[in-house]
Amino acid sequence: MLAFGALAQAGAQEPQNLDGLAKSIPTTFEFAESQYGRLLAGTKEDSKIPRTLEEGKVKTVAPKDWTSGFVAGSLWYLYEFSKDQRWLSAATDYTLRLDSIKDYRGSHDVGFMLGCSYGNGYRLTKNPAFRDVMLKGAESLASRYNPQVGALRSWDHKGWNYPVIIDNMMNLEFLMDAASEGRVERYRTIAIAHADKTLHNHFRADSSSFHVVDYNPTNGEVIAKKTHQGAADDSAWARGQGWAVYGYTMMYRKTKNPAYLAQATKVADFILNHPHLPADKIPYWDFDAPGIPTAPRDVSAAAVMSSALIELSGMVGGEAGESYLKLAQQQLVSLSSPAYLAKPGENGNFILMHSVGNYPAHSEIDVPINYADYYFLEALLRYQHLKKS
Ligand code: GLY
Repeated sequence: MLAFGALAQAGAQEPQNLDGLAKSIPTTFEFAESQYGRLLAGTKEDSKIPRTLEEGKVKTVAPKDWTSGFVAGSLWYLYEFSKDQRWLSAATDYTLRLDSIKDYRGSHDVGFMLGCSYGNGYRLTKNPAFRDVMLKGAESLASRYNPQVGALRSWDHKGWNYPVIIDNMMNLEFLMDAASEGRVERYRTIAIAHADKTLHNHFRADSSSFHVVDYNPTNGEVIAKKTHQGAADDSAWARGQGWAVYGYTMMYRKTKNPAYLAQATKVADFILNHPHLPADKIPYWDFDAPGIPTAPRDVSAAAVMSSALIELSGMVGGEAGESYLKLAQQQLVSLSSPAYLAKPGENGNFILMHSVGNYPAHSEIDVPINYADYYFLEALLRYQHLKKS
């Protein structure tokens, strides 16, 4: 999310060549509005939520899908940008579709689902009904905390004991927001315990993140460090690195714990200095993907990273901050170019092309995905706020 009440922190010194990007943002948003106008019109008979394009058709998903909150979230960002009542109405519609998730205890992704939809909706409208759903949803998410492990359980899938994935850092924002909004200290304690446990066990010596750490649920010991969506257990899955830098940047914003800022900068440095990061700064789906340089790129990873790096740049400042902002800017310039931005009316009317969902499962390779659009719009808004501050 942009942040519950305040805008994300940003304010690093501006490199000289940022002007072109700032000027292009209104045009990119107008394009996004036209794409999402067509996307919604094309799926108006469908009560489910557009996720991706499959065999030339928009694939829609039910509220329990982990991506169900991103369309509502993108619509809130379109409303935030345009102040157009049409987006307020559409965002409200797609948010209310997720009401049942407040009682869903089957996945850690409740944070993504309700944070992007109800969280942004509450931030922008202060509708108390949105707040009520958030607080109920936070209780559902908190039910997945095991004090023996000191972390929220990510999945209930067979084959794992107590899996915790780096993606789960993203769900902590929802819990932290609910903690302060509802004055529930327990949510804050759980989120901090989870971030600390993840910091301790998820990172390698080179500061890249494992995807999955599987714990013993009885004593909290680490059983295995594996991948699910990456190229190998010891590879650096690109979106996972994005979740890591975003997650620790956000947790530093929420707590001011310097250990979180240090972890965010270490992951940012890993990304920034990686020899496999292409010249246009859009990563391959895994930094260790087989077939580089012809391996598919993952635009969603770039979108997540760029949004995080803009916020991180303002926290760090100085030369390091400038280098993070420059990387974010390069990513956003690339994403706003015809290489990644769809043509009008194409790409199922999603905004960005060329994301990878789950390469090892042969699922969603080189396709549009709704979360790439969401983090792209968020990053553009963050960048715009930075320029205005
Ligand atoms: N959180 C699931 C993913 O990033 O694909």
